Amino acid sequence: MQYFQYRCGQLCAQGVPLAHIAQAVGTPVYIYAEAALRHNYQTFAKASADMGSLIAYSVKANSNLAVLSLLASLGAGADVVSGGELERALRAGIAPGKIVFSGVGKSRDEMRKAIIAGIYQFNIESVPELIVLNDEACALNTTASIALRINPDVSAGGHEKISTGKAENKFGVNIDLARDVYKHARDLPGIEVTGVDMHIGSQIDSLAPFKAALLKALDLVQDLRRDGHDIRTFDMGGGLGIVYNQDEDILPTAADYMDMVRRHTKGLDLKMIFEPGRAIAGNAGVLLSRVHYVKHGTARNFLILDAAMNDLARPALYGAYHAIMPVIEPVSDQTETYDIVGPVCETGDTFATHRRLSVMKGGDLVVMLSAGAYGAVQAGQYNTRPLVPEVLVKDNQFSVIRTRPDLEDILKLESVPDWL
Ligand code: LLP
Repeated sequence: MQYFQYRCGQLCAQGVPLAHIAQAVGTPVYIYAEAALRHNYQTFAKASADMGSLIAYSVKANSNLAVLSLLASLGAGADVVSGGELERALRAGIAPGKIVFSGVGKSRDEMRKAIIAGIYQFNIESVPELIVLNDEACALNTTASIALRINPDVSAGGHEKISTGKAENKFGVNIDLARDVYKHARDLPGIEVTGVDMHIGSQIDSLAPFKAALLKALDLVQDLRRDGHDIRTFDMGGGLGIVYNQDEDILPTAADYMDMVRRHTKGLDLKMIFEPGRAIAGNAGVLLSRVHYVKHGTARNFLILDAAMNDLARPALYGAYHAIMPVIEPVSDQTETYDIVGPVCETGDTFATHRRLSVMKGGDLVVMLSAGAYGAVQAGQYNTRPLVPEVLVKDNQFSVIRTRPDLEDILKLESVPDWL
């Protein structure tokens, strides 16, 4: 998190003290460092440049238009999973020819829009989906390029809710059935088979599962080529993990990952596609929050924040760890152990338990680190808490890139029927 550091006793995002943002925008608020997004993307792009690869940033990780526009300006493509994400990617200026469309349940309407936009590739997950895409492409008098997402049946570790590459997961086509599906695809006039796709999970902390899945899938590529398919692209999906806990996590870097891929795909004449999400956005953002109250209980001390599970769902959903730091650099060694919670009326609204922090008081600011991916995008308005805003920092400046709706904005979407 080198873009979030104490300077003169104040935690800053690049050159901007977080306390200034809290004052100007209020809390809770997500804050992203432009330099971190840029660095993370470029690290990935550089490490894979010699493979002629496409970095299709996984929009679901952080889909703010400003974030996408920045990545577009750096040459990124996009991995989208809905018509809404497609629209965002296009509006941000990502070239349609760099967009892949993933997801297990694309609608006809979404397919049609993506065909018309001229996206690079559909990642197809089932025969019924293939047939619908063929219909839509034929109706538009064109063909749609596809890769079949194969399910390599490897265990990627990590949290069960974000593991996708096992036979019992809903994703992809079992690798043993893939050749038949490709045969079927070849006979469909609206379909052009171009590649093979996989995505085995997220927050994967070792290269072993990627390698196991890749080797299985490369065997399939050889089989498919023997069957006469012109397989030109290979989509590795996303999944590379990031450091959430500086004290514990040891993770492969993007360069390690690319070296492994390069070693095994050398000479195969495949255009490689990568769909990183978390590795680009995760450590580029924090959630800034203010302490409402410090509540000293008999069993625990609670730090009650103004951020809640509706703003950052990861701890409640996956038991995820986020490092938490005070915004004012502690001057004394005195610490206290807290359970750090939000104001939502559920015990699950807990960000951390037994966390040792400098002694805090009501009104202090804290940040949750590594919140740039799957933070704001998973936020909701539970307890009628307005959607958390987002801010982008660049050097010494910052801008609000999503405003906090006021209560009127929320309530005007609802109506009471006049027959009630
Ligand atoms: N490609 C596909 C097809 C995906 O489904 C995903 C993530 C990615 C790429 C990007 O994966 P990444 O590089 O970010 O690991 N909400 C969860 C994570 C869900 C991931 C879903 N798919 C969390 O907060 O940990």
